[in-house]
Amino acid sequence: MKYLTEKLELKVKQAFSDAGFDREAGKVTVSNRPDLCEFQCNGAMALAKKEKKNPFDIAEAVCARLKDDEAFSKAETVKPGFINLNVSDAILIETLKEMRETDRCGAHLDVDHEKIIIDYGGPNVAKPLHIGHLRSAIIGESLKKMGRFLGHEVIGDIHLGDWGLQMGLIIAELKERGKEYPDTISELEEIYPLASEKSKTDAAFKDKAMEETFKLQHGDKHNLDVWHRIMELSVADLKKNYEKLNVDFDLWLGESDADPYIEEMVQRLKDEGYAHESEGALVVDVTEESDSKEVPPCMILKSDGASLYTTTDLATLVERQRDYAPDRIIYVVDKRQQLHFTQVFRAAKKCGIVPESTDLDFLGFGTMNGKDGKPFKTREGGVMRLEVLLDDVTSEMYKKMKENDSISLSDEEIRDTAGIIALSAIKYGDLSNQASKDYIFDSDKFTSFEGNTGPYIMYTMVRIKSILRKYAAEYGDFDPEAFELKPPVSDVEKALMLTISGFGNMIRSAFNEIAPHRVCAYMYELANEFNRFYHNTKIISEEDREKREGWMALSVFTLRIFSYCVEMLGMKEADQM
Ligand code: ARG
Repeated sequence: MKYLTEKLELKVKQAFSDAGFDREAGKVTVSNRPDLCEFQCNGAMALAKKEKKNPFDIAEAVCARLKDDEAFSKAETVKPGFINLNVSDAILIETLKEMRETDRCGAHLDVDHEKIIIDYGGPNVAKPLHIGHLRSAIIGESLKKMGRFLGHEVIGDIHLGDWGLQMGLIIAELKERGKEYPDTISELEEIYPLASEKSKTDAAFKDKAMEETFKLQHGDKHNLDVWHRIMELSVADLKKNYEKLNVDFDLWLGESDADPYIEEMVQRLKDEGYAHESEGALVVDVTEESDSKEVPPCMILKSDGASLYTTTDLATLVERQRDYAPDRIIYVVDKRQQLHFTQVFRAAKKCGIVPESTDLDFLGFGTMNGKDGKPFKTREGGVMRLEVLLDDVTSEMYKKMKENDSISLSDEEIRDTAGIIALSAIKYGDLSNQASKDYIFDSDKFTSFEGNTGPYIMYTMVRIKSILRKYAAEYGDFDPEAFELKPPVSDVEKALMLTISGFGNMIRSAFNEIAPHRVCAYMYELANEFNRFYHNTKIISEEDREKREGWMALSVFTLRIFSYCVEMLGMKEADQM
């Protein structure tokens, strides 16, 4: 099916062409002045410059051909040459009906479907999962779901940090304690920060840790055994935590999985002349003429022969190319790693590790700050752990829900629902900001039932569910999907319908631009439009059955669009609150 804007655009393009102009000027967008019109076409302006004609005359000639088209209730030229358009009820209803009957409400791609790997999460094994990894998990999960919804083949890879010095630190500390293996995750979590601190003041200990890391990376049997045990404990704990966040990965690969590819890759880069020695280290030059800031060479091996973060990322690309040959890889990582990825991407293309045609995208996200504008910390000033944050927000939601006397849920149900709403508060609070920006985690604001928040969206959805219950109580059981959509009777109703009609277009461009915040902006608009419609319309008490059923159909349709968005953003739905 075609989106409403696509249908309108075809007509406007045809009008341009019939009037003797370039049809490509007929691009139609949703109006940015909803007070003046619903859709607009500004093509006459650019065309006028090119053809040295008066833009108003061009727009007039085009409008003359649109005026009698039943798709438009208005087609008008405004100085200097804008075309302002309103749609007829007929084409609007026709489009909504098609959407309702089409899989995923007709959301579809404008390109062939692609095989996409999303590299996100990126926790470091044995280190507790903290807020720094929260954003990556939340954003990456939403991109994965958005891509799938549109019909792409998307593979989510957690890319564990499981092969670095932290492993050597733990092994060295275990040895000092005369222990073979760590027994529990809490023991591991106690050992790592201690060993890490110790290595900063105790040079001999640091050397030992480096030696253990080297031995591990070169196949030492004992260290590999300990490593496996650490991995087991850590991965089980990570899975538990990610599950709470409603995040899951298809691949649990990590830096260690790329290790077997390093030797051959390095040899090839040397043999084929891509890599050369520089001050003892092995590097690949990646500067480009157009660089405004210097991009230093990409280091492949340190002077002592050890591999680095760049090495494992390049080797991971070798592995991904071999196993998946993806069309695109999106990395969702802290924006402070931008330079690292510029180097890796350039080196990978230059050395033929991935084909030129593979899109390598870096979605760098900003920092989550506290109200003081500094990176978010616990009250004691420590690094906030993810599960603690989730628990804190859940308790806050629980308290708020308990204050509401009219709630008819059991204590246990309130607790569960509080968890769902807390998740929406955290995820929506994060995703509604453009990923690259820093943002302030403001618990009061994020958990508010009013304003641009997750709980407000949840509240609106619950409101629709409660209308359904009331309707059933009044008129008996019914199948809302069997009710037909009717032409709008009010402006607010039409506005809601127009917002719904923009769903497919919205999700497609949000994914193309790697911008989940656009889904949030859409949900907020949809919630506002629905609430306006709700306050303006007495649905249940309406005596005219046709109208009443049309409004129920519209409400249920709105709910369905919300559900898709909630699912795509990795949130969950509540039934009552
Ligand atoms: N483990 C890394 C960190 O905590 C993030 C990994 C990102 N992904 C990657 N392919 N480098 O900073």
